Amino acid sequence: MLNPNDESVIHSWNQNAQAWIATIENEEIESRKVVTNGAIIDAILSYSPNSILDVGCGEGWLTRELNLRGIEVTGIDGVAVLVENAKAKGGGKFLVLPYEDITTTSFANNRFDAVVCNFSLLGKGSVDNLVNLIPSLLKNNRLLFIQTLHPVTTCNQQPYIDGWRQEFWTGLNSQFPEVTPWYFRKLETWVNLLNSAGFSILECREPIHPQQQKPASIIFVAQYNRIIT
Ligand SMILES: C[S@@+](CC[C@H](N)C(=O)[O-])C[C@H]1O[C@@H](n2cnc3c(N)ncnc32)[C@H](O)[C@@H]1O
Repeated sequence: MLNPNDESVIHSWNQNAQAWIATIENEEIESRKVVTNGAIIDAILSYSPNSILDVGCGEGWLTRELNLRGIEVTGIDGVAVLVENAKAKGGGKFLVLPYEDITTTSFANNRFDAVVCNFSLLGKGSVDNLVNLIPSLLKNNRLLFIQTLHPVTTCNQQPYIDGWRQEFWTGLNSQFPEVTPWYFRKLETWVNLLNSAGFSILECREPIHPQQQKPASIIFVAQYNRIIT
């Protein structure tokens, strides 16, 4: 693997796009099937947004699910193969857009009731910047939903310290050509990041895996609390 950094995150997703599509289509990630997919849909529906931006939409499953429930959804992702697949499946508007380019293109003129990031905040600086620019894309309810790996259950034997980690994609049928880097944030860091970007945390949900009885993820529901100029 290349050095773990924000560039190698997107590089690895480009290499792994076909394997990821197969993994999602074949429902190979059990925790998604039994807990986390439903948990993020329920969290969003309980706030009734009319429009939402699905940031890092991948092959677009969440965009499609929300679109089916009558929400106007746009999905963006930095990996063209994933976005082409999402477009072919339909059920929403999809656009190739790296997080780094959101404010430098005309996309910055869009406004949404809410933004969702479902397991898509993987980098370091790219994620810090993204969370800080999301308020400029919000209107009305100004909500942000983040579902991510639970810091406590994901930490395993490693120190509970922020830092780069690697996903080796073991136990899946699809062959992933590259290890995927991602940046581990402890709970305190997530809370500080949201607060410093001007968000108040309305709720923190910890969806529990029915068999393991451990949190399968953590969901932050946050609301931007500053005046938008
Ligand atoms: C684990 S997948 C999640 C996809 C989708 N949200 C889902 O729930 O299946 C992470 C996604 O984040 C995207 N991503 C990560 N960093 C990105 C960046 N800097 N710009 C654009 N997309 C990025 C990847 O391309 C990938 O599709």
